[in-house]
Amino acid sequence: MIDRIVDAAQPVEEPQEVELEVTLRPRDFTNYIGQERLKQNIQLAIAAAKKRGEPLDHILLHGPPGLGKTTMASVIAHEMGAQIRITSGPAIERAGDLASLLTNLQDGDILFIDEIHSLNRTVEEVLYAAMEDFKLDIMLGKGPSARSLRLDLPKFTIIGATTRTGSLAAPLRDRFGMIHRLDFYSPEEIQAIIMRAAQILHVGIDKPAAAELAKRSRLTPRIANRLLKRVRDYADVNGDGTVDRPLSHKALALMDIDELGLDAADRQLLVAIMENYNGGPVGLETLAALTSEERGTIEDFYEPYLMQIGLLERTPRGRKVTPKAYRHLGKHKDEQKTKPTLL
Ligand code: ADE
Repeated sequence: MIDRIVDAAQPVEEPQEVELEVTLRPRDFTNYIGQERLKQNIQLAIAAAKKRGEPLDHILLHGPPGLGKTTMASVIAHEMGAQIRITSGPAIERAGDLASLLTNLQDGDILFIDEIHSLNRTVEEVLYAAMEDFKLDIMLGKGPSARSLRLDLPKFTIIGATTRTGSLAAPLRDRFGMIHRLDFYSPEEIQAIIMRAAQILHVGIDKPAAAELAKRSRLTPRIANRLLKRVRDYADVNGDGTVDRPLSHKALALMDIDELGLDAADRQLLVAIMENYNGGPVGLETLAALTSEERGTIEDFYEPYLMQIGLLERTPRGRKVTPKAYRHLGKHKDEQKTKPTLL
């Protein structure tokens, strides 16, 4: 049930091939690039909690995937000198699963629940009381002889992460003392993240190449690190291992990633709206059917970035592609079709 248990207070390990993803993650605020406002708010809360000798208030982090919610949680644990246990909403199936997680915590521990929006109702209700009063209500037995038992829990902190705040039940949302959104990074921040990762991975990369990768990383650190590794593969096989701008161009062309960081699936989504609905608006369900993607994947992964860079708009009547999207894909809108029919 617990996917990983990490002692955030452990010293930094040397990077190892097998756990690159983990070691590329910054351990502390000094090494965490970007999300400045979030960092300031959390650093303040940590300093206050430490000063009062109390555990940190519960924190909800939301935003598109890959922006560093899990990383932020482990940085917080590190800065608090606390132990973090990492699990996810779908992994906590029954109230008993949650009970065993909570009763195994110690004062000050952090329980990170990824995809917290997918907790089921029963589990969610047990979690309310636990978050509010550090009490666990359990039912013993069934029927007329059933008794309820109230257990004291350690003073823990929940850090919940979700890609969808909209689908989080209001009573659960209300139990978080801090609710923060992680935003897309600036291209300059992504470039700095790439330079940092290159140093850890011992990849020789120049600034123009890092800027090129940054431009195509969907303003997302996880994607930036992934592109860096693939470009490194290309450099190791087709060059002397160093990455410059011409080489990164060739590697990215091979991956079919364009200048705005769109891949074939992004382009297919935009083209589907253009060709089948003359640019939209089109409903989410229809779009899911057109592209054979899950509704949630479109909402969580594709749309936020396409909207951020101004290629897609959400309107009350559905999704619409923008003139910029037409220009980017070299397509033209059929103006005839959009004229209102006069009766
Ligand atoms: N690697 C992934 N996310 C990062 C971040 N925000 N800062 C530094 N390195 C990172």
